Amino acid sequence: MKFQKSITFISALCLVSGLTLAAENSTGPIADINPPAKGTVTEAQALEAFARIYEVASHPRCANCHVGEDNRPRWSGPSYAPFPPGQNWRYHGMNVNADDSRIGAETMPCSTCHQTTPDLDSAPHSPPHFGIDWQLAPVEFEWFGKSPNEICEQLKDPARNGGRDWMGLAEHLVMDAGHRGPVLWGWSPSGDREAAPFSLQQHVDDMTIWGVGGQPCPKD
Ligand code: HEC
Ligand code: HEC
Repeated sequence: MKFQKSITFISALCLVSGLTLAAENSTGPIADINPPAKGTVTEAQALEAFARIYEVASHPRCANCHVGEDNRPRWSGPSYAPFPPGQNWRYHGMNVNADDSRIGAETMPCSTCHQTTPDLDSAPHSPPHFGIDWQLAPVEFEWFGKSPNEICEQLKDPARNGGRDWMGLAEHLVMDAGHRGPVLWGWSPSGDREAAPFSLQQHVDDMTIWGVGGQPCPKD
């Protein structure tokens, strides 16, 4: 109970003060931003870091929400099987559509089922939840079904990533996790959902390695 309360308090504090880098829970920092020194990352190392970034971005725990202009969240990953023939995903059940608002405001809001609560635990097949309001990522942050090259070009394009350089991307990850949002949930999704690969800290490190290495993109 005590644990629960202090988490709620810290999330509230982060929201109010807009703290970004010092996101902490009661057991210490959730993730740190430690970029390697300038000039120490080779292009090959940066491309290796991006390969890991791609494995995370294209993983169901991230990509199911980062979908395009059909505004339809996806259900993919082992716990969401079975899928239609020839497919490894399906559309969100119950005809859910996030509409242009990306939160389903025009039809059935996501919050009808997905609560906003710092507690990440949910039972298998019940609606998952986390500390910020459940919604699709903006349409231009589309990852679902995209190739490594396509996700790479989107991530380094400020016109399509919310105006962020690589440090801004790393800061987004740490800030979102500090609010107990999707980025933290992706590695602790509960139910019987498969977690995103590597770890949050590794993902933040990879973002800075790729950044210091000049943000090279693989060719498809
Ligand atoms: C429930 C839906 C949802 C899930 C799941 C989700 N995201 Fe997002 N994501 C969002 C929303 C909404 C935004 C827009 C927030 C903003 O720009 O401030 C966003 C923005 C981002 C951004 C900012 C820049 C960009 O180009 O996308 C990154 C990076 C990101 N998410 C990473 C992740 C990672 C990594 C995971 C999985 C561990 C993940 N997201 C899972 C909804 C989601
Ligand atoms: C009628 C209830 C309901 C509504 C409304 C709803 N969802 Fe869901 N959602 C669920 C349930 C239940 C699950 C988990 C199903 C499972 O695990 O088998 C889920 C899972 C998801 C997932 C998969 C998360 C993962 O594990 O990768 C995404 C993405 C998602 N919902 C997005 C949305 C969005 C966006 C909205 C609003 C536009 C929304 N949902 C509205 C019930 C709902």
